[in-house]
Amino acid sequence: MQKKLLLSFIFPVLLFSCNSTRKNANRPVSINPYQYTIQKRVTAANGAVVSAHALASKTGVNILKKGGNAFDAAIATQFALAVVYPNAGNLGGGGFLVGRRSNGELIAIDYREKAPGNAHRDMYVEADGTARTDKSQDGHLASGVPGTVSGLFESMKYAKLPVKDLIQPAIDLAEKGFAISEREAKALNSLQDELKRYNSMMPAFVKTLPWKTGDTLVQTDLANSLKRIRDRGAAGFYEGETARLIVEEMKRGGGIISYDDLKNYKAKLRAPHTFYYKGYQVVGMPMPSSGGVLLHQMMKMIEERNIASMGFHSLQAVQLMTEVQKRAFADRGEYMGDADHYKVPVDLITSEVYLRDKMKNYVPGKATPGTEIKPGFLQRTESEETTHLSVIDKEGNAVAVTTTLNNSYGSRTVVGGGGFFLNDEMDDFSIKPGVPNMYGAIGGEANSIKPGKRMLSSMTPTLVLKDNKPYLVVGTPGGTTIPTQIFQTLVNILEFNMSTTDAVYKPKFHHQWVPDTLQVEKGFPQPVWKGLEKMGYILHQRSGIGRTEIIKILPDGKFEAVADTRGDDAAEGY
Ligand code: GLY
Repeated sequence: MQKKLLLSFIFPVLLFSCNSTRKNANRPVSINPYQYTIQKRVTAANGAVVSAHALASKTGVNILKKGGNAFDAAIATQFALAVVYPNAGNLGGGGFLVGRRSNGELIAIDYREKAPGNAHRDMYVEADGTARTDKSQDGHLASGVPGTVSGLFESMKYAKLPVKDLIQPAIDLAEKGFAISEREAKALNSLQDELKRYNSMMPAFVKTLPWKTGDTLVQTDLANSLKRIRDRGAAGFYEGETARLIVEEMKRGGGIISYDDLKNYKAKLRAPHTFYYKGYQVVGMPMPSSGGVLLHQMMKMIEERNIASMGFHSLQAVQLMTEVQKRAFADRGEYMGDADHYKVPVDLITSEVYLRDKMKNYVPGKATPGTEIKPGFLQRTESEETTHLSVIDKEGNAVAVTTTLNNSYGSRTVVGGGGFFLNDEMDDFSIKPGVPNMYGAIGGEANSIKPGKRMLSSMTPTLVLKDNKPYLVVGTPGGTTIPTQIFQTLVNILEFNMSTTDAVYKPKFHHQWVPDTLQVEKGFPQPVWKGLEKMGYILHQRSGIGRTEIIKILPDGKFEAVADTRGDDAAEGY
């Protein structure tokens, strides 16, 4: 299946800047999938794409150059990510898109997975009350009905080019293969045992000798799945051969996704969750993602507190931001879930009176004891894999998309003959009140399992508009850390006036209330750490938090695209 490259793989090079006025720069370029570099920052006049993989970002920019708009580019980038970034790019998962059209219309597309028709509230609870998180997190029973392909075709309504143009680059990458990076090789090597455990038909990712940097990953089954989508549209996935392969895979592994579940899956167009912060309009994802509402709550709880005067990473600012993170997250488990199935009191929990009241027991210089904030969450640190892409074009379309399989490589089950991973999104439901999911989040009725219901998410694809025009396009993976990262990135730019690169790259922190631990990245300032401990906080250093992908519109109208240095992420523009 795989061949070792004779061509040398160019190890990711951090390139900062790009000259968008080069001769021929506006023509699509042929992409060499065996030799590519990674640019971390680009300024461009015509359009930009930033995503988790250089080949996907380059694919998106080629589509812009071909005359596609930001929606076209976002679709092509997602198809490419399904090939070159199998840990989170996907056909077998779901996602959310927040977009601004050139005519000013704001849209949100919900392609979150759904609980299958045969799912039920206690499907992961044994007779003696034991909660089987192993089954909600790995293997066939962990999968919700995939939403991505339906979401991509819902997005097609805003695109200009035919789907065959948008999907062909992904087909080529799957069929001819691409060179994997060191990070990808390591991830695949660490996955081998689980792939063997959760698959009866060995996928292209399984290899006898260890994967090495520059090896070519060829995915023939996935190429064929993509071709069926190219030829038959969404029905090429939800019906016919691919549906048969999914259902057969379910039968082999004790999963419950049926033909009807697949045929009936429909992405939903929703009204975005919007709010104003000091004159900026923030446009986010509504339920079933908690992201937009949590961001709203956190931003509003700091708005009147002059955080700019405290300074970036000052003891005062970090303490204030930690306390608002705790308060927002305390509401998540209690109130938030799929609003089509549970009445979520969005207006109430984002109202000024409510948020002011929540901050009444905030004391600068002192950690608010956990007992004084409504219980909400426990926390374990696990893989937080999801992926985000930000896209902008010169017509004024801006698109923020976050998609996921949930865990890295989802359920670790690849559809036999289909070549794509299935999600383990069922774990994002509250499988039993009080039992934490893989991100430590607990919940209750609002997020209980019900057939056809969408599980609560934290994904926070976000647009910030200034004078009704795009100003920031941003998002990140990271499970429950997603909303707190976007919160910090926005505060860094809007309040601390930081450069886009600093706003993304500087160490981040995360608190989701219980246990009472502030997670911080390496490089978090030691004096602030010590000061917070004196105030009563417990701190814990952890691995990198998320991978933020952002585009900022500069005063001269150019686009500054910045990719996170925490991964292989890449910015492209022209
Ligand atoms: N699966 C991660 C999320 O949706 O928040």
